[in-house]
Order: sequence, then structure tokens, then C-alpha cells
Amino acid sequence: MKLIVTGGAGFIGSNFVHHVIEHTDHHVTVLDKLTYAGNLASLDGLPDDRFTFVKGDIADAALVDELVAGADAVVHYAAESHNDNSLDDPKPFLDTNIIGTYTLLEAVRRHSVRFHHISTDEVYGDLELDDPNRFTEATPYNPSSPYSSTKAGSDLLVRAWVRSFGVQATISNCSNNYGPYQHVEKFIPRQITNVLRGERPKLYGAGLNVRDWIHADDHSSAVLTILDKGAIGETYLIGADGEKNNKDVVELILEQLGQPADAYDHVNDRPGHDLRYAIDSTKLRTELGWQPRYTDFTAGLAATIDWYRDNEAWWAPQKDATEARYAAQGQ
Ligand SMILES: NC(=O)c1ccc[n+]([C@@H]2O[C@H](COP(=O)([O-])OP(=O)(O)OC[C@H]3O[C@@H](n4cnc5c(N)ncnc54)[C@H](O)[C@@H]3O)[C@@H](O)[C@H]2O)c1
Repeated sequence: MKLIVTGGAGFIGSNFVHHVIEHTDHHVTVLDKLTYAGNLASLDGLPDDRFTFVKGDIADAALVDELVAGADAVVHYAAESHNDNSLDDPKPFLDTNIIGTYTLLEAVRRHSVRFHHISTDEVYGDLELDDPNRFTEATPYNPSSPYSSTKAGSDLLVRAWVRSFGVQATISNCSNNYGPYQHVEKFIPRQITNVLRGERPKLYGAGLNVRDWIHADDHSSAVLTILDKGAIGETYLIGADGEKNNKDVVELILEQLGQPADAYDHVNDRPGHDLRYAIDSTKLRTELGWQPRYTDFTAGLAATIDWYRDNEAWWAPQKDATEARYAAQGQ
């Protein structure tokens, strides 16, 4: 297959591109605008005959049309993805997450090309810490931030284009990813790189917020499974039963890097900070037979720490500017 991967120079998109090149015969064309979050170095080492990079905006209708016309499928990762940035300036989130997704949908509609839309469990809002329930495909949408509301809007556009125009699309909503190539603004890389630089990790508020962690490589294998076997029009939740609160994650990182577990600082909590996310991925596991490979979060985290230790040249250029931005926000 000829795949277009939007946002393939970002964190999860680049992990997916490496996964596809390693595990399939597909050809991949990455379409990426290279915002501050995109990094061509994340795609180093890919074979020239299997991979093409196109710099461009998913909201550029002419460019998107030309690329989609020659493709068998589009896997859509490109997004403005950082909650904190969406609180500061929501407009780019509307431009990319809503208008960009609309532009892609119109192109796959015109050319009858298969579409897979990548989304997040944040569209469901949050759960109480002691709620026995987890999110399922039937949970009502209840997004909290400009980021999650634009992702929710893009999911609904995909559903409408399936129903109204017969677009051949599937959707996945995944929990929080960790792994290599994640920008240092995000929680886990920020804490790891702080400790690697001899600085103290920063914990939002009391750190009791719970996230359901999945390794990015497991997210990639799930997306390939859905692309291969998913039923058109269906939504699949992707998760690996990795619930952990932020305080425990910081303590684990400190421990694994040989520091006292309490050597971190508390910083201002994020406004509207979601309490807990938790995914029930039974549908994906039972209907499509998918299983995660990284079932031990501690081992996956250790491998991720090793990657950041070995790849300082990849993250160091972004670290100072990222910390300056956080400092200005009191975080
Ligand atoms: N990070 C997570 O834990 C997580 C969890 C579930 C779902 N998701 C979803 O996965 C996708 C990827 O997330 P990520 O964490 O890798 O994000 P990221 O910010 O690391 O990467 C986004 C990529 O999209 C590109 N991009 C942004 N705007 C663009 C535009 N207008 N045109 C073309 N390219 C553009 C950026 O340059 C970057 O390479 C997003 O759709 C996000 O909502 C992320």
C-alpha cells in the first residue's frame, strides 16, 4: 500500500512510520508542516525507496488533493497536540485540528481513499479518581480544553463524512503515549531530561492526576491492526491498562536515574486539569485480536529513559526554550 502519514515528523507519527517500515512492505509519504513539534531528525535512517517526506500544511487543499490522489490510505496524526499551548492560544488548534481534518476528509472523499483518524481519550473528559468505570466507545464526549474539544470536533467530522458521504474511515482514541521522539514539553520527557540535566522534576499540583500510559510502539501496532482489519465507520479505543498517577511516574523516573524519590518541585496546576483517564480496549482486543507488547510500564519507562540518555543531541536544542516558556507560566 501507499500510505500518507500526516504529522509523521511528530512524536507518535514518527514512531508509526518506523513501525510501518519495519513490519510491512508499505511505502510511506509523510506530510508534515514541521511546526515547533515536528523534527526531521526523528525520521533519520529510513530507506529512500520506502519513504518520502513532503513539507506542507494539511489545510493546504491543493497540496493535499495532489498527494491523496496517488495514495491507497491516509493515516492522520497531524495536530496541534499540547494542552498547555491550547490554553494560551487556541486558534492554531482550530486551524489544524478542525480545518486541516476537514481538508483531508474532502480529499479522501473525492478520491475514494481509505482514511484512519488518530484521536485521543481526552475527548471523553475525565473520571473521578475512585470511579470504577473506564472509557469505552459508548462514553459520551465531554472535552475540557481547547485541545480536546478540537479533537472531539474532528472525530465528529469524520463520523459525519462516513455517514453523509460514504467516506471509508475508521477512528481510534488512544490513551497517553510515552516512548522515544516525544517533545521535551510533554510530561515524561520533561521530567527525564530535567533529571539528566541535574535539575529537579516539576509536578503539577499534588500530582494525583491519573493517566493511562501506553508505549507509542503499541499504539502503532494497534493502528496498523485497525487499518488492516477495522470495520469502516467504527471507533476503537486503544489502551494498555497502564494507569499511574503523575507523582508515581516522577518518583519512578527519579528512582531509575539513581536520585531520591522526593527530589522534585511542585508547580502551579494546569487550569481545568483532567483528573483521571482510563481506557477499556476490550473491543479492539476481542474483535480485532490486538494485544500490547509493553505490558510492564516500569520496563517501558526504563527503555525510554535510556533513549533520552543516548539521544541528547535530539532533544537538547529544544530544552532551554521549553523551560523558559514553562517558567513564564509559573510551571
Ligand atoms: N501524545 C499523546 O499521548 C496522544 C495520545 C492520543 C492521541 N494523540 C494524537 O496523536 C496525534 C499525534 O500526537 P503527537 O503527540 O505525536 O503530537 P506532536 O505534537 O508530537 O506531533 C504533531 C505533528 O503534526 C505536525 N503538524 C502540526 N500542524 C500541522 C499542519 N497544519 N499540517 C501538517 N503537519 C502539522 C507537527 O509538525 C508535528 O510533526 C495527534 O492527533 C494527537 O491528538 C496523542
